[in-house]
Amino acid sequence: MNKDQLKKGLTAIKGTRDILPEEAQLWQIVEAMAKSIFELYAYRELRAPVIEPTELFEKGTGASSDIVTKEMYTFNDKGGRSVTLRPEYTPSVVRAIIEHRLDLQGFPLRFYYIGPMFRYDRPQKGRYRQFHQIDVEVFGEKDPAVDAEIVEMAHRLLNKLGVGNVMTLVNSVGCKSCRPTYGQALRKVALESLDKLCPDCQRKAELNPLRIFDCKLETCQKTASTFPLITDFLCAECREHFEKFLSYLDFYGISYKIEPTLVRGLDYYTKTAFEIVTGDLGSQNAICGGGRYDDMVKEFGGPELCGIGFAMGLERLLSVAKISPARKNFVYFAYMGEEAKKESLRVARYLRSKGIECLVEFKDRGLKAHFSRANKIGANWVLIIGEDELSQGKLQIKDMVTSKQHQGTAEELARILTDKRSQ
Ligand code: HAM
Repeated sequence: MNKDQLKKGLTAIKGTRDILPEEAQLWQIVEAMAKSIFELYAYRELRAPVIEPTELFEKGTGASSDIVTKEMYTFNDKGGRSVTLRPEYTPSVVRAIIEHRLDLQGFPLRFYYIGPMFRYDRPQKGRYRQFHQIDVEVFGEKDPAVDAEIVEMAHRLLNKLGVGNVMTLVNSVGCKSCRPTYGQALRKVALESLDKLCPDCQRKAELNPLRIFDCKLETCQKTASTFPLITDFLCAECREHFEKFLSYLDFYGISYKIEPTLVRGLDYYTKTAFEIVTGDLGSQNAICGGGRYDDMVKEFGGPELCGIGFAMGLERLLSVAKISPARKNFVYFAYMGEEAKKESLRVARYLRSKGIECLVEFKDRGLKAHFSRANKIGANWVLIIGEDELSQGKLQIKDMVTSKQHQGTAEELARILTDKRSQ
């Protein structure tokens, strides 16, 4: 096998990618910000497995959704069970609530999670087969105030990350009592317009005509623009919920656009559905999608517990976030000789105990080579330990930005470094 063949055989699977250290630093910033914001609203992390029984998504995400019909990573495990790499997180949280009867434990049913999801879709910019979501779910809150609160929470995170040019699209997709009437009206016109729909939408016309609104083809969109809209079919309860939701968005000063064709690609939504899009992304412009799902817990055999949540795509978020890695105190050790090496280890151990990042490399280098190495790796301090420093019992440290030098004991230098960091 030659080098090229070897490289070809060992690349990451199509639609997946490595997040290398420089980029991972930015991911860590976003993840830490998300967690700290969610905890301000009393959310707690719930970590569920990456693989789940296939029925969980067939039943939860929905048998007629694109995700379940076309995009799942499903296989039989060695015990012959059909398992699936989760394409989304919401059904897993619902399963966990029922399995552990979290509803009986008295704490707020507010959860978040950040992790990988898997969908076998055609990869393109902003769309991957392994991608990552920041997911948030709340249970047991019927009040539309919570619908607006989660949108506000999403905006707080987007603001903090400097994501601009955003628009919030909102809709109500009705409930069990009003959607069937709408579904019938929609099916009727969709079946009458079959010749103006793509083969996929022709199939949807019978199965789930609401999904036609998701089609990206211009001809289908044009046809769908003549279809009746859910907003004209909402029952009194759904209409009131939607109006209150909008009034809470006004209360928070969040601007929004009512998008009556926003039906979202998952089958479980009831009442509120929303998406946050940004003009800074290409065609995959949805940075956040969510909504209410008041029937899922019950349909899984759990208690009467309504739910609402959203998920943000981390890859998309990172491609528009305006963040840069925090400047750290990163000390590189330039030592000469065996004794100085041991002293470096002792000092590094002490500085690390003070929370200062230290790098001691185990290579014989002269002073010049040490400095060019420190430059290359972006160290902002070089701590010099040679014979003079050892004999005087004083260390020298050089600021690589200002070239200023300081002399002192390890304790004195630690003080200088921590002071500088807090500036
Ligand atoms: P979703 O709209 O399917 O909703 O996905 C949410 C977000 O995940 C999208 O807006 C997008 O940013 C990101 N995303 C989805 N698919 C991909 C992909 N293939 N590559 C990159 N990013 C992607 C859900 O997943 C629901 N579980 C959200 C929810 C939570 N609803 C209620 N609770």
